[in-house]
Amino acid sequence: MGRTGSIGSSSTRLTGQKLGFMQMPPTWTTDLPPDLKGLVEAAVRARSNAYAPYSRFPVGAAVRTRSLGIYHGCNIENGSYGATVCAERVAIFSAMAAGERDFDALALVAEHGAPLTPCGICRQVLFELAPTLRVVMANLTGGVTVAPIAQLLPAPFVLLES
Ligand code: THU
Repeated sequence: MGRTGSIGSSSTRLTGQKLGFMQMPPTWTTDLPPDLKGLVEAAVRARSNAYAPYSRFPVGAAVRTRSLGIYHGCNIENGSYGATVCAERVAIFSAMAAGERDFDALALVAEHGAPLTPCGICRQVLFELAPTLRVVMANLTGGVTVAPIAQLLPAPFVLLES
């Protein structure tokens, strides 16, 4: 089980594990559900394909469909830095391009002190394509945090038809 702690006054108390500089909400978990162990291993393997000559920060990702298909992703950088694509988006775009639409979980892995959390652009993309997604954030030393995408992005942009 993960450690717990608390910050804030009694009226605004937030309990949970510390995740980098922030306090983890109590509904998130540091226990890896056994059925997601293989997905983290797939993300570790995908990381070896990263193209990250500029940051030297390889990231691996793997997304699982509800029918248990697995699609891999890694970060792919570019000398025009803004053209870089994160591992999470490569994974889910690859799955979308194969015709998949129903996603259950996504794992991402990097060599990082605390389990890596997805960037804001990836959170927006993941929420639109898979609003019930479980996101498994991991590092290479066994640190894991699991959170629903809706909690990682509490106020997503949604384009509504007028
Ligand atoms: N990166 C990812 O692939 N996923 C993340 O969640 C965070 C950042 C990549 C983008 C860039 O290639 C490198 O990590 C450094 O930011």
